[in-house]
Amino acid sequence: MKKNPIIPFALIAVLGILAMIIFSVIGLNEQDKIASDGEESSEESTIREDPEAIVQSCIGCHGGDLEGATGPSLQNIGSKYNQEEIYEIIVNGIEGTGMPSGVVPNEEAEILSKWLAEKK
Ligand code: HEC
Repeated sequence: MKKNPIIPFALIAVLGILAMIIFSVIGLNEQDKIASDGEESSEESTIREDPEAIVQSCIGCHGGDLEGATGPSLQNIGSKYNQEEIYEIIVNGIEGTGMPSGVVPNEEAEILSKWLAEKK
């Protein structure tokens, strides 16, 4: 039986087309991923508005009830600092100590500092 000389070329063509389809699908997925990553880092979509939710970022060091752990208690923090001072501490941290800067975005720091300033 004589081999059909077209078949190898047809196979290569089909494989080529398949590869093109697969790569374009992968490419589109990547594009979506990159696009949605961009959305996540744009601040508004991830800002938490509930101070009790935001403060979850602090309890690792300040204790589950803010009673203090590695960091000092924040239960009466409003009688030590006013809202602006607390905001500054959250945004900038306390240099040379274990209190880090930028634990939460500035918008959340604003909400959280108001809430903490009420704790007297
Ligand atoms: C990695 C641990 C850590 C995290 C996370 C952390 N803190 Fe602190 N924080 C500390 C430490 C340690 C101090 C004490 C710094 C010092 O020695 O003055 C401190 C001090 C503070 C103070 C000053 C307290 C005082 O009595 O002078 C405030 C206010 C404060 N933190 C608020 C926060 C808030 C709000 C968050 C969450 C957004 C937070 N911290 C997250 C470790 C942390």
